[in-house]
Amino acid sequence: MSDLTVAVFDAYGTLFDVHSAVARLADALGPEAPRISALWRQKQLEYSWTYALMQRYVDFWQLTCDALDFALASVGRQGDVMRDRLLDAYRTLDAYADVPAALDGYHRRGLRVAVFSNATPEMLDRALDAARLRDRVDEVFSVHSLRRYKPDARVYADAAKAFRVAPAAIAFHSSNAWDAAGATASGWSTRWINRAGGPAEYPSLAVPAVRDLAQAQQAFLGDEREPEIP
Ligand code: LAC
Repeated sequence: MSDLTVAVFDAYGTLFDVHSAVARLADALGPEAPRISALWRQKQLEYSWTYALMQRYVDFWQLTCDALDFALASVGRQGDVMRDRLLDAYRTLDAYADVPAALDGYHRRGLRVAVFSNATPEMLDRALDAARLRDRVDEVFSVHSLRRYKPDARVYADAAKAFRVAPAAIAFHSSNAWDAAGATASGWSTRWINRAGGPAEYPSLAVPAVRDLAQAQQAFLGDEREPEIP
C-alpha cells in the first residue's frame, strides 16, 4: 500500500470547467466568446498574485467579478447585460467528466477526498452542490480564512495541518501548473493534470504531468487491484 492517505483536488480548472460558463452563453456572446473566457480566467488569477504581492487580500469572488468586467470591457462590452448571467453561470460550473469516477476510486481505496481552493467557502459550497459532488467530498479547505492565496507556501502548510497529515501523505491534483508547482515545492505528492496538453512548466520542480484524473490515480496508486464492487 502507498503512504498516501488523502486525495486533494484543486477546484477551478481541475474539478470545475471554468470555461463552461461562457460556453453556456456562447451563442449570445458571439465570436468573442473564447477571448472573453480566456481573459476572464487569466485576469482572475493575475489579480490573486498581484494583490498578494501588495499584501492585500481581495476575496476570490470579487476577483472573479473584477476579471469579468475587464474581459467584457476588452471586447467593448462593458456594463453588458450578459454580466450577471455569466456570473450566475460561474456559480454553477460544470464538473469535468472524469471527476466522479476519480473521487469514488479514491474512496474505494480507503483514501479521504478533499478540495483545496483559492475560492471562498460560499463559491465552493454552491459549485459542489450544483455539480452533485457534495457527497463525494469529505473535506473542503478554502484559503479564505488565511487571507492568502496559493501558491504562497504558507497556505499549503496550513492546508496539510487542516487535513491532519504530513505533506508527503497528500496526493494532490491540479490542472494549474503554478499550483502543482507550489504544492510540489511544499513537499506534497503531486500530479499536474495537463488537461490542455500544454508544454512543460516549472522544470526546476519536475512536477510529473498526466492527461486526466484517471491517469493521476493510476500513477498515485499503481497497479493495486481495486476491490470488486458487489
Ligand atoms: C483554485 C483556483 C486556483 O480553485 O483554480 O484554487
